[in-house]
Amino acid sequence: MWKVRETGPAPIVPTDIGTDPAIATSWEAEYRNGRYVDDPPLPFVEEIVAAARRHGMADSGGLYLGCGNGRNYLPLVACGLDLFGLDVAPTAIAQLQQRAPERASRLVCGDLSALPTGAQYPIVVAIQVLQHGDETTAHREVRRTAARVAPGGLFCVRVNATGTELEYAHSIVERGDDGRFTVRYRAGPKRGLLIHFFSASELSRLPGEEFTLVAPLRRSDTRRPPPRRGSWCQWEGIWLRTRGPVA
Ligand SMILES: C[S@@+](CC[C@H](N)C(=O)[O-])C[C@H]1O[C@@H](n2cnc3c(N)ncnc32)[C@H](O)[C@@H]1O
Repeated sequence: MWKVRETGPAPIVPTDIGTDPAIATSWEAEYRNGRYVDDPPLPFVEEIVAAARRHGMADSGGLYLGCGNGRNYLPLVACGLDLFGLDVAPTAIAQLQQRAPERASRLVCGDLSALPTGAQYPIVVAIQVLQHGDETTAHREVRRTAARVAPGGLFCVRVNATGTELEYAHSIVERGDDGRFTVRYRAGPKRGLLIHFFSASELSRLPGEEFTLVAPLRRSDTRRPPPRRGSWCQWEGIWLRTRGPVA
C-alpha cells in the first residue's frame, strides 16, 4: 500500500515560490472575493476516483497541485485518497484548512518547489493549474508535475482547451498550427496574466513517453450561465506512468 510521508504542521505563508508572483496575487484576490466557495465538485472527480479504484489505489496517498479552497480536493479525500494539497494562494489554503481542520498537516502553501526533492506520489492531480504562463512555461510545468508521479502511478489533469470562447479582452501572443494558443488578458480576474490553451495533440504527448493515457482525452465544454456568453472548454485526461525515466 502506498502512503505519503508525514510532514508536520503545514505552513500557510508562501516561502519558496518560484512561480510568477502575479499568479499568486491574482488568485489570492479571487479567493478573498469568495471564488469557488459554493461551487460543487467537477464530474472529473468521479473519474479520478474510479481510475484509482481500477488501478488498486483506492486509498493511496498523492498530491493535488493547485488544490484551491477544496471544491474537488474535499470529495477526493472523502472517497479515500490521502492527498497533499498544494496551492500558491495563502487564502485558498487557509479556507481549506478551515473547511477541513483534520487535513491541516497535508495542506501546504507553495508550488512544486515546496515538495521534498525527488518526492513522487502514486496519484498526482492537477485541475486547471497547468495552463498558467506561455507555452514554454505551461509545457515545463506539465513535465515537472508528471515527474512527481511514481512509476505505476496516475497523473490526472484538466486544463484549458482550444475551442474556448474567451470572455474577457485579451491579446493572442502565441498560436500553433494545431490551434493551440496563449493569451495575455487585458481585463477580468486574470488581467495581466499569460494563459495557455492546449490542443489535444499537444497535451496528449506532453507528460513523456513513459506515460500512457488510460482513456482518450475528453473535452468538457461548459456554457456560461446567462447573461454571460460563450463556452469554456477543458481537456480531461488520466495517464498511467508505466515505467521510470529512460536511463
Ligand atoms: C483555476 S484554480 C483551480 C483550483 C482547484 N483546482 C479547483 O478546481 O477548484 C487554479 C489554482 O491553481 C493555483 N496555482 C496556480 N499556479 C500554481 C502553481 N504553480 N503551484 C501551485 N498552485 C498554483 C491557484 O492559486 C489556484 O488556486
